[in-house]
Amino acid sequence: MKRIAVLTSGGDAPGMNAAIRAVVRKAISEGMEVYGINYGYAGMVAGDIHKLDSASVGDKVGRGGTFLYSARYPEFAQLEGQLAGIEQLKKFGIEGVVVIGGDGSYHGAMRLTEHGFPAVGLPGTIDNDIVGTDYTIGFDTAVTTAVDAIDKIRDTSSSHHRTFIVEVMGRNAGDIALWAGIASGADDICIPEKEFKFENIVNNIKKGYEKGKNHHIIVIAEGVMHGEEFAKRLKEAGDDSDLRVSVLGHIQRGGSPTVRDRVIASRMGARAVELLRDGIGGVAVGIHNEELVESKILGTAEEGALFSLTSDGGITVNNPHKAGEELYK
Ligand code: F6P
Repeated sequence: MKRIAVLTSGGDAPGMNAAIRAVVRKAISEGMEVYGINYGYAGMVAGDIHKLDSASVGDKVGRGGTFLYSARYPEFAQLEGQLAGIEQLKKFGIEGVVVIGGDGSYHGAMRLTEHGFPAVGLPGTIDNDIVGTDYTIGFDTAVTTAVDAIDKIRDTSSSHHRTFIVEVMGRNAGDIALWAGIASGADDICIPEKEFKFENIVNNIKKGYEKGKNHHIIVIAEGVMHGEEFAKRLKEAGDDSDLRVSVLGHIQRGGSPTVRDRVIASRMGARAVELLRDGIGGVAVGIHNEELVESKILGTAEEGALFSLTSDGGITVNNPHKAGEELYK
């Protein structure tokens, strides 16, 4: 393969730039040419494609966001969108693509592979909700940002004897809430993966203040419910503390990536190029027990694929979030 392209798709995540940089530098060292596609699949369809060289990725490893821009583009799920994108790839002589994004982006990578353009997926999202990898690019930075914010909120919580509900991102996954909650010493953590009772939290708050604690921090994942709704339900369950809600929001997506995110992004980016160099597409790179691993994106559960097609054309996730060893055999 002589010419490949790289794109970022879905929500931006810190470390995406480090991954792009690794793709570009590794590809050049393998004698390939690299093109950047702006705005993900939307840019592919629009032909927003330009050549990258080694200097294009200088001073990018530590920068947040994605310098190739990103977009959510559901139209790429349709054949018409895919064919329009492929027409552009052909125009630029591109033979393979590295797709950095979430699982929606992986489906696009699979479709490209089926149409004869091998594509490799890299898990770029702060949510850590991608099957086939222990960690996604951006998760470590997002959690670090959330912990920094919660540490600050604790100052106000302690100064005023206030209870704080801190809502963090994660879509339907509770990983950011769990990690940020543990690392900041939260008093309660609520995640979509585990049931809880408001009455128990109310008791916990009361007991804490009775014991002489001067703060109470509850970290909730956005997938549980919005912070304001949570506060309402807590009051209805009998909470009589001075309660405030803080929604951390998009600050969790921004900022310079942590060392860990820079390193896993760089390793994964380089591996993606090796796979394309060897003509392999339709796979996603992940990290398991600190080793890089690859999984087929689409296929049967028995083959260890991440997703299967259902008889009515839908998609099933074969392996639960952070599937066990069987995925990596
Ligand atoms: O997937 C990353 C994420 O930040 C989620 O945590 C959040 O639910 C969503 O994206 C927000 O999307 P948007 O930036 O499009 O509002």
